Amino acid sequence: MRIAIDGPGGSGKSTISKILAKKLGLIYIDTGAMYRACAYISLKFHVHGDALEELVRNTEIDFLQNDDTQRVILLLKKSEYDVTEAVRTPEVSAKVSEVAADKKIREILTKKQKKLASRKNVIMDGRDIGTEVIPDAEVKIFLNASVDERSRRRYAELKEKYPEISFDEVKDDLVKRDETDTKRQTAPLLKAEDAVEVDTTGLTVDEVVQEIMKIVNKKR
Ligand code: C5P
Repeated sequence: MRIAIDGPGGSGKSTISKILAKKLGLIYIDTGAMYRACAYISLKFHVHGDALEELVRNTEIDFLQNDDTQRVILLLKKSEYDVTEAVRTPEVSAKVSEVAADKKIREILTKKQKKLASRKNVIMDGRDIGTEVIPDAEVKIFLNASVDERSRRRYAELKEKYPEISFDEVKDDLVKRDETDTKRQTAPLLKAEDAVEVDTTGLTVDEVVQEIMKIVNKKR
């Protein structure tokens, strides 16, 4: 079974996907981390446009399963970088949507993602999984929540690591990213026609998992 989960930042995609992956014995693939890795490369090596595309083309992005955590590993310029934490910084978050709007970067990553999805038993989350990456997924979910609820969740995650960050900064970043992701020309954030929309506002993680399990069970 292949499950595609799309939706805006803070809608709960990664939390829910990890739980479902465990429950259903699927491999979890976080495509947002792949775009974040490209933004990280752009910031670290000060490259943009064609030079960034060339570097991304020559970079291997791997997910390493380590007990309960998944490490994001980059192999580039003959070196190995564990960027699991580095791709979650506010700097990378502020950059990622611009990088993800680049048509050639999307082509490179979409190709990698389609290859990963061909392993069949996967749950993949992102913005264009149901529309572009696995258009024939057996289950397609579009997760959503109000912008305030999404900002509250992201703020709670970030404030532990970045005590100086404010709620408004987090909300601004989410709103800007929503706008760039929705309005870009190539593969914008969009609910696939045949995706089931689940509004997670006011729901607990357990309730969302139960809701999606009902949808999955109908397909089994
Ligand atoms: O899911 P996450 O919030 O980590 O994604 C970070 C960014 O990566 C998104 O805001 C979006 O710009 C980009 N992205 C994308 N397509 C995907 C996954 C993520 O454009 N499939």
